[in-house]
Amino acid sequence: MRILVLILALLPGLAMADDKRVAFYAPPALVESGLIRHIAPRFSLKTQIKVDLVNDPAQAELLLGPEGRALFSGLGQVWHMELRSETKGAQRFADWLTSQVGARTIQGFAPEGTPIFTEPKVQEAAVARVEMTGDAVAGQGLSWAKCGRCHVTERGKGSFGIGSTPSFFVMRGFDDWQARFTGFYVLKPHAAFTQIAEVTDPFPVDRPSPIAPIELTLDELEAILAYVAILDPADLGKPLQHQ
Ligand code: HEC
Repeated sequence: MRILVLILALLPGLAMADDKRVAFYAPPALVESGLIRHIAPRFSLKTQIKVDLVNDPAQAELLLGPEGRALFSGLGQVWHMELRSETKGAQRFADWLTSQVGARTIQGFAPEGTPIFTEPKVQEAAVARVEMTGDAVAGQGLSWAKCGRCHVTERGKGSFGIGSTPSFFVMRGFDDWQARFTGFYVLKPHAAFTQIAEVTDPFPVDRPSPIAPIELTLDELEAILAYVAILDPADLGKPLQHQ
């Protein structure tokens, strides 16, 4: 009997019904930004409810993503919250996220000194001008999260790029931008720190990545390409192709 109880407790689906925990999903860009690591302990400390980050949105009682109530903006998009369960843990976390304290905690997250997230904003007119596919929206967030350490990937986000590294807008201006973005991971300097799932070999044991590696799937790279495709190329002093 004991063993059965133990096994049941270990099954994630059943453990979810607990009042003292909430199965929570956040898209990778948000997790990688460090936001979840920032907010979850603060919520747990107050409520004694543990936030269990799940990898599969289908398993989540509460999730952040494109659907539901607009919660905050950042990384180039508006993030929404969707509550899918009535367990006490999930309700409390939803209440907290939508409370003033929750909003202040999210907006107070500033790993590099500058806050990343703000109140939810409707897409600006300049952005809305271009029809963004779902992929391009994802690509914008991914570009910022994965490449923004070195490249400027969005207008108005200059502070994150490294000055000597070409911005996405400049690179979009090259005739062969598509080829460059499709194969960037075999080019210097990226090969030393970039892994594409199921494509690249692991780093050689004697030459580990010198910096926190970039890890991407081919789908994610495609989303980045969809985003770069809709960028206005920076003016390189030659006529734009589409005019
Ligand atoms: C650690 C810093 C760093 C990161 C992170 C980084 N890049 Fe780069 N990237 C560079 C530098 C530096 C260059 C310029 C290389 C040169 O001038 O030869 C470059 C050049 C490029 C180029 C042009 C290559 C060419 O043909 O000349 C592309 C395309 C590119 N990066 C895409 C990306 C994408 C996509 C990401 C994110 C998934 C990314 N980079 C992340 C540093 C970085």
